[in-house]
Amino acid sequence: MALDTLAPDKAGNLAARIETPPAETSGAEPDAAQLLFGAEDPPPFPEMNIFPLEWRVETPKLQAIYDSARDPGWAPNKLPWDTLDPNAFTLDQRYAISYWFTLLSVFDGSGPAVFSRAFIHTWETHEEDPIRKCFFSIVRDEVNHEEICQRAIQAMTPNGPLDFEPETPLGQLARNNIKWYYHNGCRYWSGFQKGVLKFQLPILFTSFLMGEVASSTLFHSMYQKTSIPVFKECFKRVGQDEARHMGICLTVLETILPNLTDEQREIITKQIRAGFVFLSGILYLPPEDFWELGPTFRPAHKMLEEVAREAGLGILTDEERRENWRTAVLKLKGLLDPYGVEFPALPEIGIDGKTVAFDPDDIIPVF
Ligand SMILES: [Fe+2]
Ligand SMILES: [Fe+2]
Repeated sequence: MALDTLAPDKAGNLAARIETPPAETSGAEPDAAQLLFGAEDPPPFPEMNIFPLEWRVETPKLQAIYDSARDPGWAPNKLPWDTLDPNAFTLDQRYAISYWFTLLSVFDGSGPAVFSRAFIHTWETHEEDPIRKCFFSIVRDEVNHEEICQRAIQAMTPNGPLDFEPETPLGQLARNNIKWYYHNGCRYWSGFQKGVLKFQLPILFTSFLMGEVASSTLFHSMYQKTSIPVFKECFKRVGQDEARHMGICLTVLETILPNLTDEQREIITKQIRAGFVFLSGILYLPPEDFWELGPTFRPAHKMLEEVAREAGLGILTDEERRENWRTAVLKLKGLLDPYGVEFPALPEIGIDGKTVAFDPDDIIPVF
């Protein structure tokens, strides 16, 4: 008789009414050793699955970096946004500042989605625990960087970057340029999703490093140059985060680079060219190899940068940016040279090297 069919037992005699269990289970329950005799393993765990979970630590230094990154020491909502008065700028200056942060958002605003995809991949490939944890901290940082783009754009052009009506010709040009940049952002995202699954860890991390070298360089220089207080604070904080991301990539590469195969070296050479082409879109000028841009893009871009520069945003001149980018890329070259990685030719910034084919699907750097 099932217990739930019994009438309420107000007198508390329930135990007495339970039927005696069958004899074969009452006195002869198997012990663990007996049970083990009949145990069976499940089918093998499939490749590229996040299970089984494990917490291997192979690089204690990465664990230490993660521990120091647990608290980034700042938050976008705590920055002095109340000191940013849109009315202190002309309409065109507002459009131009918003424009620049929108260009930045193709790189830094894609960070949360791009790194989340890479983060999941570190689970699928069962990377050691501190690598996964470091990626988690990068995802968190990138969400903060995206919020910087969001707040700057919303302050200067409410409902921007696209959902507002610019009132001047320069504002209209800005919006047209933004559509073209987002068009290329879409192509990058499509390529990245395939690339992150296709390439092995050494390739991914060299490309990631390229992005982090670029971003820390960019924010450091703009921090020094901007005259707008809240943006100075933004560039300082974001730059600190990016330098930490660079440290993570360098630490991972310390163990990977000495064990490269010839094939991996060749892919890295191509990857650096691909990374350069993509990242030049914010570090310098967008090269034609990848960037599909409308007929008015380049002259409009120059005008908008000039107006944002006059407004005090801290955009370096073309010549300063070329020098900056060149110095950063040469640092990367110095790091890779000892491991026999040939550097690609980057004639745009005066660096000689191997001429390599370019494939838009190879673009996987992250900011
Ligand atoms: Fe970032
Ligand atoms: Fe980063």
